[in-house]
Amino acid sequence: MKRVGVLYATREGHTRKIAERVAAELRVRGLDADVLDVRDLEAATDLGGYAAVVLAASVHRGQHEKEMIRFVKRHRVELERIPAAFLSASLSEVGVEQLDRPPEERAEFAADVLKVLDQFFTETGWHPARVKAVAGELAYTRYNFLVRFIMKRIARKAGAATDTSRDHDYTDWAALDRFADELAQEISEPVEAMASAGAPVR
Ligand SMILES: Cc1cc2nc3c(=O)[nH]c(=O)nc-3n(C[C@H](O)[C@H](O)[C@H](O)COP(=O)(O)O)c2cc1C
Repeated sequence: MKRVGVLYATREGHTRKIAERVAAELRVRGLDADVLDVRDLEAATDLGGYAAVVLAASVHRGQHEKEMIRFVKRHRVELERIPAAFLSASLSEVGVEQLDRPPEERAEFAADVLKVLDQFFTETGWHPARVKAVAGELAYTRYNFLVRFIMKRIARKAGAATDTSRDHDYTDWAALDRFADELAQEISEPVEAMASAGAPVR
């Protein structure tokens, strides 16, 4: 069975949920999937056993996690040899996906998402074929007092939720499942193509 590595970096835990969801969907599609925090991986981790790799990271203060940047720099050559995708979770993408906002505001959020992604690709030298921005979470209950205060102000400006008594999940899980399905299809295609080539014609 083909195996996919779903490797993540997170600060408040939401990107781990994203990684687990992608892995679960890949398993439904008949693939094996490992979900691993890049912080737990050895420098010499070998990606050679994977048919594909999905990397997922979140954005804090305008950049993705340092450990993900380090990991990609270290493994860039291997990442370029296998099908690989990058998922980026952020609050800016929440603004992009709010369809009731004025188009110029959504365009500003989209520019923010692109800027942070471009910075990541420039810094790591990695340019994955598949990239997906994912609307993240406002995890008010998991922030300390100061972060909760700052995030509430940012959320107000972004038109996101300001009720700090609970968390607010903005991820479009169905869209994430579609992303995983497409990836699974792509990885499985050579095998399917071979199977159908040998299949009896009716
Ligand atoms: C302190 C802090 C800083 C953040 N900075 C940004 C930012 O610069 N741009 C952005 O789009 N989202 C920002 N976010 C939102 C996170 O990307 C979002 O909450 C994401 O879901 C976090 O994922 P994680 O739980 O996997 O770390 C920030 C969140 C926090 C708590």
